[in-house]
Amino acid sequence: VKIGILGSGIVGLTFSAKLTGLGHDVMLGTRDVTRLLARTDPGAYGLSPFKVWHEEHQAVKVGTFAEAAAHGEILFNVTSGAGSLEALQLAGAANLDGKILIDIANPLDFSQGMPPSLLVSNTDSLGEQIQRAFPKVKVVKTLNTLNAQLMVTPRQLADGDHTAFVSGDDAGAKAQVVDILKNWFGWRDVIDLGDITTARGAEMLLPLWVRLWGVLQTPLFNIKVVK
Ligand SMILES: NC(=O)c1ccc[n+]([C@@H]2O[C@H](COP(=O)([O-])OP(=O)(O)OC[C@H]3O[C@@H](n4cnc5c(N)ncnc54)[C@H](OP(=O)(O)O)[C@@H]3O)[C@@H](O)[C@H]2O)c1
Repeated sequence: VKIGILGSGIVGLTFSAKLTGLGHDVMLGTRDVTRLLARTDPGAYGLSPFKVWHEEHQAVKVGTFAEAAAHGEILFNVTSGAGSLEALQLAGAANLDGKILIDIANPLDFSQGMPPSLLVSNTDSLGEQIQRAFPKVKVVKTLNTLNAQLMVTPRQLADGDHTAFVSGDDAGAKAQVVDILKNWFGWRDVIDLGDITTARGAEMLLPLWVRLWGVLQTPLFNIKVVK
């Protein structure tokens, strides 16, 4: 499948590596291709500089946000939450319309330092802002509640016996995303929260997530919903 990954941070690189490994045709999008390809500063979380990473992952194509969006039949929004709307404007509605956009971004506000707060909450969410700005895009919020590595290898933890959530207005798109979570990444427990307004709940888990991270001293944990 042709995949467009909008975002060049740890989440974008993690999905790009995983999906090319599964044989998909991946293009990663960024604001400035030349700048990204020349980056020799160390990546976040101990990741190699982008230039080195890309030499090791040559199957991953690199383009602008617009080129990556045009390339993908299925798209991932893995841009910084504060910049997501801007990044999607750069991608362009014409390249996004009609496609599934798997939205993993969190609207985190780091302006007051750590821990971050939320830029939008309670009565709105980033998922809804994206859906409103791009009404013809099938936005499905998912996987924003856990660490990048676990998103694509959930079985690494508790044999995958923990929970992912999905929110979105388009039932067909959501079913396809649940299929992707289960068949490409190995998820077992996926809870459909409902329409895109339920992304509020998934995004508002983040204040708890960052505090658990502080206490547990590892990002490799997740929530399991039990009845
Ligand atoms: N890290 C995790 O484990 C994790 C877990 C759950 C959810 N998330 C969410 O996933 C998203 C990606 O996280 P990340 O750590 O991989 O990367 P990040 O550092 O949050 O975001 C990097 C990407 O955002 C783009 N960007 C930043 N500001 C922008 C702006 N003003 N306009 C347009 N684009 C802008 C950057 O563009 P350039 O390529 O041009 O630099 C880059 O592609 C975030 O929303 C984060 O909250 C992360």
